[in-house]
Amino acid sequence: MTTVRDVRSMAGRDPITMLTAYDAPTAALVDAAGVDLILVGDSMGNATLGYDSTLPVTVDEVKSRTAAVTRATNDAVVVADMPFLSIGVDEAQSIEHCGRMLKEADADAVKLECGPHTVELTKRLAQLGIPVMAHLGLTPQQVKQTGYLRQGTSKEQAQEILDLARAHEEAGAFSLVLEHVPANLAAQVTEALTIPTIGIGAGGDCDGQVLVVNDVLGLGERVPPFAKQFGDVQSAMEEAIDGYVDAVESGEFPADEHSHVEADLDELY
Ligand code: KIV
Repeated sequence: MTTVRDVRSMAGRDPITMLTAYDAPTAALVDAAGVDLILVGDSMGNATLGYDSTLPVTVDEVKSRTAAVTRATNDAVVVADMPFLSIGVDEAQSIEHCGRMLKEADADAVKLECGPHTVELTKRLAQLGIPVMAHLGLTPQQVKQTGYLRQGTSKEQAQEILDLARAHEEAGAFSLVLEHVPANLAAQVTEALTIPTIGIGAGGDCDGQVLVVNDVLGLGERVPPFAKQFGDVQSAMEEAIDGYVDAVESGEFPADEHSHVEADLDELY
């Protein structure tokens, strides 16, 4: 089994792969493909729960999806993404929410959307034995403040991201996600840290890459400009569902091989 220590030691060595998954069958496929980390992202809000942002996602939703993913995963490190306001309001409550992901859903680590307010929490969680993946740059839980725009584009913003990256490494984070930031900023952050950076829309110089699995599969409508679709599962699903509807409507399904007959039941009265 891959561990967070293995992931940490991959910095600057082997390219790290991470994909999201929100259910057991997808996690099993992602794990079997040899992906290093599975993120049970709060992107489930948009990707599978029908919300138009990640803000409504709850601790219970992430916990139940994380448990489904860990049940189907043999090798990858499973990271539970802490949803909006589940951390940062109160330290004891934040720790309890993060701890539930390990205790009740068997996650290996938690991911926090970070800012100055998460440095102390990261330190506390690491001391308590809860591995932390930090997340800087575009943090979608801040959508009401920042929109979904690229972050770190001015010198001040870029410096702040670099400083926060260093502070979270020092606080004990085992890895850092960098989302939608200029590639030359991500390269400098990667160079400055000893923990691995995992980029999404952050160029090719990070230690690893992460994408939302629906974008990779080609399932869903809105694909961000930095994502790449590697398949067309939407078309495959449409074809299968249309095929089923046609077969039922035409009487082709179920056929004899999908039914069984008990001889004794022929003459009921
Ligand atoms: O929720 C998520 O899927 C994420 C990734 C995009 C990094 O935070």
